Amino acid sequence: SKTYTIAVIPGDGIGKEVTPWAQKALEKAAEGVADFTYEPFDLGAERYLRDGAILPDDELERIKKTDAILLGAVGDPRIKAGILERGLLLKLRFALDQYVNLRPSKLYKGVTSPLANPGDIDFVVVREGTEGLYCGAGGAVRRGTPQEVATEVSINTAYGVERVVRYAFELAMKRRKHITLVHKKNVLVNAGDMWQRIVDKVGEEYPEVTHDYSHIDAATIFLVSNPSKFDVILTDNLFGDILTDEAGAVVGGVGYSASGCINASNEYPSMFEPIHGSAPDIAGKGIANPTAAILSAAMLLEHLGFDDAAKKIHAAVEADIEELGSTQRTTDQVGEDILARI
Ligand code: NAD
Ligand code: IPM
Ligand code: MN
Repeated sequence: SKTYTIAVIPGDGIGKEVTPWAQKALEKAAEGVADFTYEPFDLGAERYLRDGAILPDDELERIKKTDAILLGAVGDPRIKAGILERGLLLKLRFALDQYVNLRPSKLYKGVTSPLANPGDIDFVVVREGTEGLYCGAGGAVRRGTPQEVATEVSINTAYGVERVVRYAFELAMKRRKHITLVHKKNVLVNAGDMWQRIVDKVGEEYPEVTHDYSHIDAATIFLVSNPSKFDVILTDNLFGDILTDEAGAVVGGVGYSASGCINASNEYPSMFEPIHGSAPDIAGKGIANPTAAILSAAMLLEHLGFDDAAKKIHAAVEADIEELGSTQRTTDQVGEDILARI
């Protein structure tokens, strides 16, 4: 049978603390089901401070040959903001054409939401992953002078939007068949109008799927006032980034929020990571919640077609949260507790 190679990039801060648990969960859930080998990559702040390397070409080529990537988080307060985020994380998402950034939010039984009446929360944000304001288009001129001009240009292509829209409709067909497009078409009239037209057009091919629209500002309201109304939220790269941190908070914290950066054409490996960052405020304390990283491992298994193995992780996480979700535990305790149930 095929051996799958998984690239492991723990990265920085709590990424290094939670990723080993994601890998252990993966190993255990895949036992007897799939043959996985792990290829660790020393990428992130320590590497950069040591030899200046961010993502060398030969390492990117090796990553391209793997079957999937498990990533922790990148970013370090000692390094200028953007260097690792753009040079490593976004470089991977772009080079591997991970155009679907899939971010499920579910309120697990046993987790306390900050909302008084959260209701049943179970939605997925389909965030575009390779376009928008993240492209790096724009620049700074006369930097540091009173005449300084700084621009970031949001790039939206019909090709790039249509492929992620199609993914959202396919996903909706497997769920409650409802999509909410989130944008800001009252102001961003060029991109917003194109997104809406493409959703309308593709929607004609999916008569069973209903779709509506919210401006991003209003969507942030509904996410706290009536989150159970959402099934699939479809949005661009930056709006999706912001909305999914809010979604994480609403379901009890980003420590429960997993994601997949999916190359849905399977030309390149997809990458699985918690939505949270390196959390310098708690790094080194051993208290980061590894659940999001572990759930990312489950998404990896699903992506490779090992649904039963993925279900084992989901069941273990659900049982763990239901029984112990309200207790104070260290990273390693949560990891051990979940692992024991897989
Ligand atoms: P963050 O997500 O790292 O932290 C935000 C807050 O959430 C912090 O209070 C943190 O302690 C808490 N938190 C995050 N993950 C947690 C967990 N697993 N358990 C418990 N609490 C958790 O966001 P930030 O502080 O804005 O960013 C820190 C660094 O991470 C920056 O360098 C940023 O660029 C980077 N970042 C990287 C990624 C990524 O690699 N995917 C994502 C977001 C931010
Ligand atoms: C995330 C992060 C990244 C993003 C940053 C670190 C580039 O916030 O994965 O949500 O904006 O996509
Ligand atoms: Mn983010």
